[in-house]
Amino acid sequence: MSDDVEPFYAIALSRIAHELKGQGRSILHMEFGQPSTGAPKAALEVAHRVLDSEAMGYWESTALTERIARHYAETYGVEVAREQIVLTCGASPALVMALASSFKPGDRIAMARPGYVAYRNTVRALSMVPVEIPCGHAESFRLSAEQLAALDPAPAGVIVASPANPTGAIIPPEGLAAIAGHCRERGVKIVSDEIYHGLSYGEPAHSMLEFEPQALVINSFSKFFSMAGWRLGWLVCPPDHVARARAYMGALFLTSPSLAQHAALAAMDCREELEGHVEVYRANRALLLEALPAMGLTAIAPPDGAFYIYADIGHLTNDSLAFCERLLRDTGVATAPGVDFDPVDGRRFIRFSFAVSTAEVREALQRLGPWFAAQSPARSFAT
Ligand SMILES: Cc1ncc(COP(=O)(O)O)c(C=O)c1O
Repeated sequence: MSDDVEPFYAIALSRIAHELKGQGRSILHMEFGQPSTGAPKAALEVAHRVLDSEAMGYWESTALTERIARHYAETYGVEVAREQIVLTCGASPALVMALASSFKPGDRIAMARPGYVAYRNTVRALSMVPVEIPCGHAESFRLSAEQLAALDPAPAGVIVASPANPTGAIIPPEGLAAIAGHCRERGVKIVSDEIYHGLSYGEPAHSMLEFEPQALVINSFSKFFSMAGWRLGWLVCPPDHVARARAYMGALFLTSPSLAQHAALAAMDCREELEGHVEVYRANRALLLEALPAMGLTAIAPPDGAFYIYADIGHLTNDSLAFCERLLRDTGVATAPGVDFDPVDGRRFIRFSFAVSTAEVREALQRLGPWFAAQSPARSFAT
């Protein structure tokens, strides 16, 4: 096992935030990408009923895998058999399974930088080699087929994320099609992280399965479905990979939580309630996009989807971790430092999660305005 796994610095900041809260400070949690809303009502009702009536042993719900398969037909026009869907304890184990069952130690796995912290860490934990492709302002924060083509030799695999964390950038359908075509030509396996699907503010995100049926797709109930702590997700595998993926699931995790499976089946039919959360995120996003540039944060990645704003603070600091801690201690607004997502350029970025209430965003902006106005490059670089 590799010892190169780095800490998730936002967790350390969150710990400080909770300490400050314990001291009576008012804290606004914008450091993690987790909805503050909780599971849909109908899902909670089912969970209460099941708790009182079932023993809840090891189990995989056929009704849920069938429902997820129907979701692919209805949302993307893609035929997926129920058997191709393996229920997992969130997207995190789905990522472990996708990587462990498709690649071997030493394989090179490409991914965008900035990107979700667990990509490079999971790849390293499995003794594979992350190949980070810079996707900054110049690339509109989006991975492209051209960048993959520039890798020599070709990597064994690529992790594609759209909408992406930390930027929210969505790769348009033609971009996904080009990546799929390129990977097919060079024999690069695709792992597509579609955990932020359902959370988009313009055009909806497309599934990689529309362009590459051999792709492994990971998804979860943590984000759109607002059920992060229920620990439930899924992996879609091509038919010839199912037996292998199921063997890995059995060996590493057995099954996913029974209670969560019951609740998730109900959650999939709570579209209206869940779309209501998206409308709150849409309003929060608009408030931030209006206010942040006025505070000097003008270079922002395109937040097409997800619930993040990834902003360049390079005019104020070259140490985003210290900057986020100072911001937290001074204002009570907890954020995530760019170093979590980008070990090279992330020292000059900050991520705001807007998966909170609109009242909290308004309050955060009240505190951030005077704070940013008081910052000067000289002072920030000195600390
Ligand atoms: C891009 C991305 N993928 C995967 C995950 C893991 O999600 P979970 O294991 O809760 O399903 C997260 C969590 O924030 C994420 O941002």
